[in-house]
Amino acid sequence: MAAKVVVGTQWGDEGKGKYIDILAHDADYVVRFSGGNNAGHTIINKGVKYALHLIPSGILHEGKKCIIGNGVVVDPAVILKEIEGLESKGVSVENLYISDRAHVIMPYHKALDALQEEARGASGIGTTKRGIGPAYSDKAERCGIRIGDFIDQEIFAEKVRENLKIKNAIIEKVYGGEPFNAEQIIDEYSEYAKRLTKHVTDVNAMIHDAVDEGKVILFEGAQAMFLDMDFGTYPYVTSSNPIAGGVCTGAGVGPKMIGEVYGIMKAYTTRVGAGPFPTEQDNEIGDTIRELGHEYGTTTGRPRRCGWLDVVMIRYAAKVNGLTGLCINHLDTIGKLKKIKLCSSYILDGEKINYIPASLKQLAKCEPVYEEFDSWEEDISSVRSFEELPQNAKKYIRRIEEISGVKVSYLGVGPDREQTIRL
Ligand code: GDP
Ligand code: IMO
Ligand code: MG
Repeated sequence: MAAKVVVGTQWGDEGKGKYIDILAHDADYVVRFSGGNNAGHTIINKGVKYALHLIPSGILHEGKKCIIGNGVVVDPAVILKEIEGLESKGVSVENLYISDRAHVIMPYHKALDALQEEARGASGIGTTKRGIGPAYSDKAERCGIRIGDFIDQEIFAEKVRENLKIKNAIIEKVYGGEPFNAEQIIDEYSEYAKRLTKHVTDVNAMIHDAVDEGKVILFEGAQAMFLDMDFGTYPYVTSSNPIAGGVCTGAGVGPKMIGEVYGIMKAYTTRVGAGPFPTEQDNEIGDTIRELGHEYGTTTGRPRRCGWLDVVMIRYAAKVNGLTGLCINHLDTIGKLKKIKLCSSYILDGEKINYIPASLKQLAKCEPVYEEFDSWEEDISSVRSFEELPQNAKKYIRRIEEISGVKVSYLGVGPDREQTIRL
């Protein structure tokens, strides 16, 4: 059975958690393959709200095996807190498995994330300050600490002492920050390691066996296409590859394994953090969307920047991820406005283009070309079939399919798992 992948097509927070929760129903395994606790996935199930950062959203389904792949960076204190939170709500985490090849976010990564942001001043990226960038940098620099080494007390202590010689020098001498005490970290983290050891295993072997046995695997994307290190609005991106291709490197499977790729999007666009945003509405329209859609971050609580839907982005995301279906959320939200717009191309130096330029200088010059639609201005939150949707909503959806070249698989008309239309 071919695997399914869920990815974000914009700048994150498209509502991936909701679809992972829905698709997990028919899956045997749910696997996170990139990012860390910079992610915040909201799931509302029978009125109970869950905000997950590291643990795959499949955990809410009893009996599903939930895996954190090698491509993820794990903050031990955060995952333990998340485990406690789930257990206190009666959710079992017995089926949680963490790759011994995943990397650990250390306290000095978090400190460096904050210090680097401060040093960037006005050109800051607006990171979540969770230590994500510095942890991935160490992975590439080959001084990162993998989970397998983290749970081996001797190797862990040795690596912390070794790393701190350099990290403390950078923290103190470059940024004027406070140095870390190696022994304190070793004591604190050894306690975390003891509690996490039972979840650590060679998850690649588990995934390969699952493939051989014909099990259904769902790969859970975090972040999104335009936060991707290679295809996003670099340098205003995260430090991993959240695109569908990241499944291969972040979970250890070949591309032929992947069957369906669901691209999650909102009926408008949002972004948290800094960086270009061609269709941003830094005005009354953006404020209205923010209030109607409750657009405040799940992880940091920051107000999200809001704007019109940019289908040039979705089209590009469709190509890079090989999308087989779109899931459009917040149709209920956008339908409350009188008139709505979508961007179908850009004008760059007098020419019409339908791609995203790599150069931020060029992207800043891109003028969105908008198509205006009459809205539906009615409550659609209890609609459960495409046929029942207002004519104007259907027109808007069909136009998105036309420009992006991808058919819609699901529509979201509210935050609850039940508030979905399957096509
Ligand atoms: P993720 O990071 O992609 O999983 O998305 P987040 O959970 O960060 O943000 C999505 C927000 O939109 C959450 O508050 C969801 O409960 C909410 N949401 C998802 N789909 C819909 C929808 O169709 N309508 C409305 N009104 N809210 C939605
Ligand atoms: P989910 O999975 C929205 C953004 C940050 C910042 C940039 C870099 O919930 O969609 P980082 O801490 O990763 O170095 O920050 O990336 N960012 C997200 N924005 N949703 C996310 O995840 C994000 N993860 C990172 O706001 O602009
Ligand atoms: Mg989120």
